[in-house]
Amino acid sequence: MTTLALYSNKGGVGKTAAAVNLAYLAAQSGCTTLIADLDPQGSATFYFRVKPKLKRKARGLVGGKRPLERSIKATDFDNLDLLPADFSHRNLDITFDRRNRRKQRLDIALKPLRRNYDLIILDCPPSINILAENIVNASDHVLVPVIPTTLSARAYKQLLSFLRENGRSPDRVSAFFSMVEGRKKLHRLIMNSLQTRSGGILRSAIPYLSQIEQMGLHREPVPASAPRSRAAHSYRALWAEIQENLFVQGRGQP
Ligand SMILES: Nc1ncnc2c1ncn2[C@@H]1O[C@H](COP(=O)(O)OP(=O)(O)O)[C@@H](O)[C@H]1O
Ligand SMILES: [Mg+2]
Repeated sequence: MTTLALYSNKGGVGKTAAAVNLAYLAAQSGCTTLIADLDPQGSATFYFRVKPKLKRKARGLVGGKRPLERSIKATDFDNLDLLPADFSHRNLDITFDRRNRRKQRLDIALKPLRRNYDLIILDCPPSINILAENIVNASDHVLVPVIPTTLSARAYKQLLSFLRENGRSPDRVSAFFSMVEGRKKLHRLIMNSLQTRSGGILRSAIPYLSQIEQMGLHREPVPASAPRSRAAHSYRALWAEIQENLFVQGRGQP
């Protein structure tokens, strides 16, 4: 069993797009996969055509008597389940902060689900607070999409320091370039400079493609709606590299 977090301290960098497409590809390759939508905005939930839980009683990850397993929904795809976004997730940081073992709450909440899946993908909201520490503690590997712009590169470096301070070994964090526009000189420059100076950057990059933007219209992963598209090919290459490099023997091998 492996838990992979799509995480960044920045919003709008392609976390959800990657989480949805990688979860689909993992399921297609035969891994029993759960995508957990931790973002109260519920974009991953929306892409899989599942209704987010908005009722007060549906307490998702926050606790309560109802076992978390009962919140899980099947998707339209084999081997792929979804833990939908819940409105209560907007307060995860505050709620976790008030409990004992406050940095382990997410890990504890996910524990009963782990026996049922080969892979759990966490689609995380942008944060750098107690929720981020919970995400780090609950995941075997943290995968960070980085747009090759000055501010994103800076945010990535801040994130690496944060992860280091929280005891995360650097070999369990990787980044990939996201929304890459190859014709932009700045993108090329930043990619070169980050690749030479920071470790843990994967070779596979996701280009800026309207096919990915249009996931909101099709409401399905790109490799399902357009399997031969460049977008689908890019995510397949990323998934292949993740399988090849990140899942060390003994920590679960999707
Ligand atoms: N590679 C890409 N090319 C074009 N648009 C993208 C790409 N990745 C994401 N998007 C679009 O950018 C927006 C933000 O992406 P999203 O994955 O939701 O980011 P995050 O989860 O990091 O906030 C969405 O509208 C999404 O469709
Ligand atoms: Mg998102």
